[in-house]
Amino acid sequence: MYPTIRIFGAPGARMFMAPSPIAVRSHNGVYNVQVARGARTHLRAVLTEAGLTGAIVVVSSRRVWAAQGGRIGRITPVLVADGERAKTLMTVSDIYDALLTARVDRGSTIVAVGGGVIGDMVGFAAATFLRGVRLVHVPTTVMAQVDSAIGGKVGVNHARGKNLIGAFHSPALVVVDPDALVTLSRREFRAGLYEVIKYGVIADEAVLTTVDATLPEVLTQEGDALTDLVARCCRIKADVVSADEHEHGLRRTLNFGHTVGHALEAATGYSRLRHGEAVALGMRAALALGVARGVTPPGLAERVSALIARLGPLPSVADVPAATVVEATGRDKKVVNGKLHFVLATGGGTTTTVTDVTGRELRGALAPLGIRGR
Ligand SMILES: NC(=O)c1ccc[n+]([C@@H]2O[C@H](COP(=O)([O-])OP(=O)(O)OC[C@H]3O[C@@H](n4cnc5c(N)ncnc54)[C@H](O)[C@@H]3O)[C@@H](O)[C@H]2O)c1
Ligand SMILES: [Zn+2]
Repeated sequence: MYPTIRIFGAPGARMFMAPSPIAVRSHNGVYNVQVARGARTHLRAVLTEAGLTGAIVVVSSRRVWAAQGGRIGRITPVLVADGERAKTLMTVSDIYDALLTARVDRGSTIVAVGGGVIGDMVGFAAATFLRGVRLVHVPTTVMAQVDSAIGGKVGVNHARGKNLIGAFHSPALVVVDPDALVTLSRREFRAGLYEVIKYGVIADEAVLTTVDATLPEVLTQEGDALTDLVARCCRIKADVVSADEHEHGLRRTLNFGHTVGHALEAATGYSRLRHGEAVALGMRAALALGVARGVTPPGLAERVSALIARLGPLPSVADVPAATVVEATGRDKKVVNGKLHFVLATGGGTTTTVTDVTGRELRGALAPLGIRGR
C-alpha cells in the first residue's frame, strides 16, 4: 500500500502526514517534491506543513479548475488561458495584472495548478514579478508531475519557436497528487506515460517492468500502482536535475527521444501530435539508430517498442518527408556549437550522447515510423 496523506488534529491546529518527500538540490537551495494521494485536497495544510504560511494566490485555467477545482477546496483562483497557443507573454501579462490586483508582495506564494503549460507560464510570471516571488507547483498532468514541475525551468513560447523565452526559477515546493490524473483525457494520460517509459530507458529498467506488469491498473488513472510509478519517475527527475541543474551533461539525457520528437512536432505544425506521442515516435527512432550503431541492445529496442505499441496506436507521420525531419533536427535547441547532440540508449538504464549522427543515419532511423525517402 502506498502511504496516503492523513490530516489530523483539531481545526486550526491541523497536522499533515505524508510519505517522506523527494529532495531536489538547486542553485538557490533544496526544495521538496511531495508525492501523495489526496495531497491536493489538503493543499493549505500541505503548504503550512512546509512552512509556507503567508498569503497564497492560486493560478490555474478554466479547464483545469472545472476538472479539479472542486477537489482543491475553498480557494478562489485566478484563471488564465491554457493550451500551447496561449503559452505567451500576453498570458503572462494577464497573470501580472491578476497578481497586482491581488496585491501580491514578496511574502506571498504563487501556486500554479495545471499541466506543463500553466506551470511554465505561472512559473515565468513568478520568476519575474517583483524580480521573483515564491512559487509552488501543483502539477495535474502526468507530464507535469514527472517532468515539467521539477527542475526549475519556466518560460513561454515565441512566435518563432517553442520555449524561447525563459528562466530558471526553482519552486519552494512541488505537490504531486497522482489522483488528480483521473480527469485527464485518455489521450493526454497516455501521452504522459511515454515520458514514464523514457525514464525506464534512460535511468531504471525496473520502471519498464512495472509499467508492463501494472498497466491495466495504471490505466484506471488513479490508485497505488500509478502513485508508485509517478513517485519513482519524480525521484529520477529530481536526481538528474540535482546533479546537473543547468544542463551541462546529465540533464541532457532527459532529451532521449526528443531530438526526433521535437522535429516531428515542428514538421506537423504542433497540431497533430501531443508532445508525449512525438517522444514515443522519437524514442523508436533513437532506438533504431542505436541498434544500427551497435550501442543499443536489440532486446531493449524490441521491449520498449512493444510497450509503446501496448499503450495503443500513435498518430501516423508516414506522410512527413524525411528531409523535413532531418532539416528540423538541425534547428533544434540541442544543437550546441553547430553539433547536434543525440542521446542513445545503451541498456540497463544508461545512455551515451553522440554528436556525429549523419543525415543518412537519421533517415534510416525514421524508417520504423513509416518515414521513407530522401
Ligand atoms: N519546464 C520544463 O522543464 C518542461 C519539461 C517538459 C515540458 N514542458 C512544457 O510542458 C508543456 C506540456 O505540458 P502538458 O503535457 O502537461 O500539457 P498541457 O499543460 O497543455 O495540459 C494538457 C491539457 O490537459 C488539461 N488538463 C491539465 N490537467 C488536467 C486534469 N487533471 N484533468 C483534466 N484536464 C487537465 C489542460 O487544460 C490541457 O488542455 C509544454 O509547453 C512543454 O514545453 C516543460
Ligand atoms: Zn518531453
